[in-house]
This record gives sequence, structure tokens and C-alpha cells, in this order.
Amino acid sequence: MNTVAVVGTQWGDEGKGKIVDLLAADAEIVVRFQGGNNAAHTLVIGGEKFVLRLVPSGALNGEKICVIGGGMVVNAFALIEEIANLKRRGVDLAGRLKLSFDAHMVMPYHIAIDRSRESRLGKRAIGTTGFGIGPAYEDKIARQGLRFDDLIDWKSFKDKLDRNIKEKNLYLKAVLKAKPIDGKTLIAELHKLRRLILPYVTDTSAYVARSIDEGRKILFEGAHGTMLDIDYGTYPFVTSSNCIASAVYAGGGVPPGKLDAVLGISKAYTTRVGAGPFPTEIYGYLGDSIREEGVEFGSATGRPRRIGWFDAALARYAIRVNGLWGLALTKLDVLTGINPLKICVGYKVGKEAYDTMPPGRNALAKAKPIYEEIPGWDEKPDAARTLDELPRDALRYIERLGELCGVPIAMVGVGASRDATIILKNPFRD
Ligand code: IMP
Repeated sequence: MNTVAVVGTQWGDEGKGKIVDLLAADAEIVVRFQGGNNAAHTLVIGGEKFVLRLVPSGALNGEKICVIGGGMVVNAFALIEEIANLKRRGVDLAGRLKLSFDAHMVMPYHIAIDRSRESRLGKRAIGTTGFGIGPAYEDKIARQGLRFDDLIDWKSFKDKLDRNIKEKNLYLKAVLKAKPIDGKTLIAELHKLRRLILPYVTDTSAYVARSIDEGRKILFEGAHGTMLDIDYGTYPFVTSSNCIASAVYAGGGVPPGKLDAVLGISKAYTTRVGAGPFPTEIYGYLGDSIREEGVEFGSATGRPRRIGWFDAALARYAIRVNGLWGLALTKLDVLTGINPLKICVGYKVGKEAYDTMPPGRNALAKAKPIYEEIPGWDEKPDAARTLDELPRDALRYIERLGELCGVPIAMVGVGASRDATIILKNPFRD
């Protein structure tokens, strides 16, 4: 297959970065199509840790063409910093990073609005990453946003920006009772930054469509996860973009029907950051010890992640809305030493039982998980590169998740590094 998308099936942080990095070996082009630097994809390569927020994770696997698609919202300052950091560490993106002129710019006033709204909400806060993502998408939909395309003509860009700054400062001061942003400094900084960013700005949609026609292998890198999708996730505790596979079409500029396969990524357990329903959440000592063992602290914000058992009901939902070809399970090693393990196989909501997402989004907050128990294992599976090399009960656990989800398990992650993965099916090859 030539065009493959990778999406998260849970609440983000499923370990997509590592799987994208691994699959990128078979791709020529890696495309991000939604979200912004609220995503943080962590990769461990040669013992070195890299965190990528805007640049596709494929950047680190050879000389791939990296595309930041039109569905993204991009903080230009953060992007330039990320490019410079990568360069310092020997990864040069010159000539191989393409930034869509359709992508919207995240501005400091978006960040100020995001943060002050969250602090005003207090206990009812969504728990956003605070990077201005929601307000930037709001401006896009309200047709007030500034796109990288606008940056080409400085005079008209400056006029629009000026107008936006005035309006946002009024809102910040009068409604949110927050400090306004310094418009003059922002304009001066963007004027300087413009020279650095414009060389990357291009028509990525035309490039991607042409590359598909030429039969080139392209990997579409999803950010966040299905349960954070603005339409299909646990609204309002979601991010502000579509994170499911169909976002590849609008956000990547891909003609409908041109995606060959979608690989879903799921941890062997579940995590979520921020507020909102989480039926399989584990509290207390066990949750804390999985968090420590799995280093479950946000890569973008450092916040501790909430921990839960694997949820097959949510996985089935993710399989349906994404049309998944297969599932890659990550971080199996983290569950070593827990006995027994629990798997959520469905929910009870009142008297009704469900084997997938119950209808009506609020139902998830009331859902009581139905658990199945399964024996754990004590021997670390990190060195396994085939299923036969796994501890017997770890293999049984994987097989059971496969049975419950009803799609092939394509990969199993057994450690942090790129090679600590059992590959059963590779969508570019099989
Ligand atoms: P926002 O995307 O910053 O607006 O945050 C909205 C919600 O999505 C919050 O609960 C965040 O914690 C969550 N979120 C956004 N991006 C990620 C991610 O990449 N991983 C996990 N959670 C995320």
C-alpha cells in the first residue's frame, strides 16, 4: 500500500511518534494534517530523546520530505525554534520541510485567551495544553484567522494583524480581565521571523495530490487521539480539531478515497490528560506505579497523566470511526508485574449494557465498566522481537485484546526505542 495514516485510538499519547518513526523507513513523505504544538511526539533514537511538536516525527528517519498540512494551526515562533533545535542535534530540515500556505497561525493573543479562559473556569477547566489551539481554530472558523499565505504580503498582513490585536486586546481586558498583549513587539517579531519562515511556505495540497498520483509512499501522521476529536470525542473535553482518519482528506488536502490504510495506535492500557470522563481510570497506588513505570507525564506540558485499564469498548468505537486496518499496541512492557490485569469489555449504563461507546456522549460519564480479568506476567518482555519470545501470559493478553477488538494486531511495542517493537504486519509492505 502507498498511502497510510496513523491515528490515536485513545486520548492521545498512545506512542504514535515511535510507530510513525518506524514506518517512515518505508515512506518518502510524512504529512501532519491537524492540530498544532499541543501534540508532542516523543522518540528515543540511539538512546537520545527527541520531542517533536510541529515537525512530523518522520523527520528523524532518513531524509524524508516533511509536510505541515493545511489543517494545522502553527505557532511560527515554536516552529522556528523546533527547526533550530533539530539542526543543533544534526537534523537539517532545509529543503525538505514544506509548510502549507493554508495552515493558520497561532498568535500570542490565542495563547493569552486560552490560558485566561482556563484559569477563569477553575474546577470546570478543560485542562488544555495552554498553547492557544482552541482560540486559533475559532478564528479560522470565524474567518478572522491569519494564514501563512497572508504572510507573503507584509503590508496587508500587518493591517489584518493590527485589527486582530486591537480586537483581542479589547476582549482580553474587558471580558477576561487579563493583561493585553504587546502588539508592537509582536508585529516587530513577526516581521523578523517572516524571512525565516517564508522559504518553507508552499502549496502542500498540490504537492501531496501529485505525489499520490506518482505512486509515492506517504505516511499521514495523526496527532492526539480519537477520544479528543472535536466531533467524535468526549466533547467538550476534547481538542479543537478532527483527529480521526477522515481529517487526512481535508487537513492534508488529499482527494477522498486516496487513503489505502489506517493504522490505529493504542497503549496496552489507557491514559488521558486533562478533565473529562474516563471509565477505566485506576486510582491510588496501582495507578501511581503504572504512571511512574510508563513515565506518564505530558511531553508538551509535563502534567501527570491519568491511568486506566485497556478499554476494548472504546477501541471498537475507534475502529469504527477510523475504519482501522489494524492496531499497533504500545508499552506492553509497562504492565509487567501486575497480576491480574483487567480489560474493559463493555459498559453498563443504568440497566443497559453496551460493547462500544454508549449513545449520547454524557453516557460515558455514567458508564460502569464490565471487566474481564486475565493473568499478568513477571518477566520483562523488552527483548522480544517475535511473539514467541514474549512471556506466555503477555502473548495471551495481546491475543485477547485482538479477539476483543476484532482487527489484526499489526505491531506490539515492548520498550521505548525504535527497535523494541514486534512487527507482525507493515501496511507499506503487507
Ligand atoms: P488543547 O488541545 O490544548 O485545546 O487541549 C484540549 C484537551 O486535549 C486537553 O484535555 C488536553 O490535555 C488534550 N490534549 C491535546 N493534545 C493532546 C495530546 O497530544 N495528548 C494528550 N492530550 C492532549
